[in-house]
Amino acid sequence: MVRRILVTSGLPYANGHIHIGHLVEYIQTDVWVRFQRLIGNDVTFICGDDTHGTTMMLRARAEGRTEEEIIAEMHDAHLRDFNGFGIEFDYYGTTHSEENRQICTEIWGAFKKNGLIEEREIEQLYDTEAETFLADRFVKGTCPVCGKKDQFGDNCECGAHYEPTDLTDAVSTITGTKPVLRRAKHFFVNIEKEHKFLDEWVHSGALQPEIANYLTGQFLNDELRSWDVSRPAPYFGFEIPESSNDYWYVWFDAPSGYVASTMQWCKLSGRDFDKIWRNKETEVHHFIGKDITYFHTLFWPTMLKVAGLTLPKRVHVHGFLTVNGEKMAKRRGTFILAATFLKYLNPSYLRYFYATKTSGRVDDLDLNFSELESRVNSDLVGNLVNIASRTAKFVQKTGLSATYPDDGGLFENAARIGGEIAEAYENCDYGKAIRLVMECGDRANKFIENAAPWLLASDKNRAGELQDICTIGLNLFRQMAIYLLPVLPNLQSEVEGLLNSKISSWDDAGKPVVGVAVSQYKHLIKRVERAAIERIIEESKQPETVENKDKFNDSGDVLVAEPLLPDKISIDDFTKVDLRVARVLEASEVEGARKLLRLRLSFGGDESRQVFAGIKSVYKPEELVGRLVICVANLQPRQMKFGLSEGMVVAAGAGGDEIFLISPDNGAKPGMRLH
Ligand code: 2FM
Ligand code: ZN
Repeated sequence: MVRRILVTSGLPYANGHIHIGHLVEYIQTDVWVRFQRLIGNDVTFICGDDTHGTTMMLRARAEGRTEEEIIAEMHDAHLRDFNGFGIEFDYYGTTHSEENRQICTEIWGAFKKNGLIEEREIEQLYDTEAETFLADRFVKGTCPVCGKKDQFGDNCECGAHYEPTDLTDAVSTITGTKPVLRRAKHFFVNIEKEHKFLDEWVHSGALQPEIANYLTGQFLNDELRSWDVSRPAPYFGFEIPESSNDYWYVWFDAPSGYVASTMQWCKLSGRDFDKIWRNKETEVHHFIGKDITYFHTLFWPTMLKVAGLTLPKRVHVHGFLTVNGEKMAKRRGTFILAATFLKYLNPSYLRYFYATKTSGRVDDLDLNFSELESRVNSDLVGNLVNIASRTAKFVQKTGLSATYPDDGGLFENAARIGGEIAEAYENCDYGKAIRLVMECGDRANKFIENAAPWLLASDKNRAGELQDICTIGLNLFRQMAIYLLPVLPNLQSEVEGLLNSKISSWDDAGKPVVGVAVSQYKHLIKRVERAAIERIIEESKQPETVENKDKFNDSGDVLVAEPLLPDKISIDDFTKVDLRVARVLEASEVEGARKLLRLRLSFGGDESRQVFAGIKSVYKPEELVGRLVICVANLQPRQMKFGLSEGMVVAAGAGGDEIFLISPDNGAKPGMRLH
């Protein structure tokens, strides 16, 4: 059955250029889209620029241009970069469109109708010179905890989290003036009203298990905080209907851009919008970075559900890019723009390298340039291309044999593995797909090595044998190339040209071509030049300044998601966690909390601590009293709505209501430390 699929990548901010960090996501998505298309599914790939917010407004002011001029210029630049890397959207729109205003209005109306919108006045810092309220990102001052100067409005390098109003000597980063406190009305969405729906959706299989667990632990076990979705003027965005001077916050009208761009595309292509966004049969797949998980897995599904639009079938979350094990940095020359890479290196190298590192999990991905060089040189040049370059020239005059010769099962075997390779692509485990293909290549190269066509070529009596060997070699090469097409789309026309036969689907990898002419062999992929990499790094070097920071993101004033689990931690990191045996002295229900129990724990001495645990659905308070548990004893205390939580009780679980408290064996005493 043909699946109807809508795929999106996150909409990049219109105020910055595309860099190699962004490309992790766009390449991952493009590979998935190409794979789906190759196996015959009906796929639409939608993206566009995320244009609204304070940053865009300030930039337009600073440059003396209109926001629209900047948006148009960046739209072209983004598309140029994406095209350069072979990332092909069906439609690349913008959130600054009438269609987006229309969708936002629709969602807003549905929120209001369902009683989800609340109005509240809040107090915020205001820059009287720039005449704008200041998001946390636009305030700097002295940390109220450690006294360090020059810290942002939400947190300090020392790890402290606070409100911008807590900073001493706060200044606006826009004008350098001292901000004042001012009250303004904001609209909030009470997403707690959709808590039950979110609990279900988060565990519906739409998310990677680590993401579902993270959302449960960090948000869903508690009452959900209402979401502040408006900003008072001046703001660059859409004015809220019937509330002039209030604008939708950029994170309200950014994801709606997925729907709005689809609508524009439908108008242009004559497709049926309702068949996509108002149809349960359509699979919506979002690809996003882990930093914006929270917007796409709590707010966005709520918006869609309330407005009656198609819910995501899957949100594919990926990790961040590190370069040579570190965060991208301008001063090290590793903050590399897509355009700079394109100037010196073949984009296929990056597509291929990123694909080898993509696993479908949330782990970060490291780009090590020496590794890129050796992977491309050994896999693509030394394995794949080597098969064609050692056989094509011997059959240029004769073409391929008329029937496919006996190859000892090589082609058949690799055709059988096709299912496993396809499954790996489907699961975004491109690394596995590539490993399987390269193993086919190893077997093909061994076959050619043994058959040594270059020796047969000098013996006229063995011309038929030579043709058969090369027919086998070139078919094995073509088969591999088809498997790699999602990653290396440029191979398609080259292989079609070389073997004068079209490739129309994934299934072609199971059918050898015979009797066709062979064109002159042109070198398909060149080795990576070290010098080109060095030039890229040199050209990318710039001093690091605050303005230069990569993610100049407009979301500083909302609850920012906690980091997800890293792939690996050192033993030093682990020993920082003080895990202790504790005895439950008291346990009680918490009024107003759906999932929490209040525990009082003893570590053996006189002192006891209050800890909230999201275990109410599984444990009765009376069963817990007297029981030994394991507690993270040195966790920073967290102020919750119901009181202070001074630790965390350790439990195992698969998310949802499967929770198992961990207890020590008999004989353990409260206060004992875990080793
Ligand atoms: O984090 C970002 O770069 C945002 N511009 C992504 C928006 S994705 C979607 F919600 F629009
Ligand atoms: Zn500090």
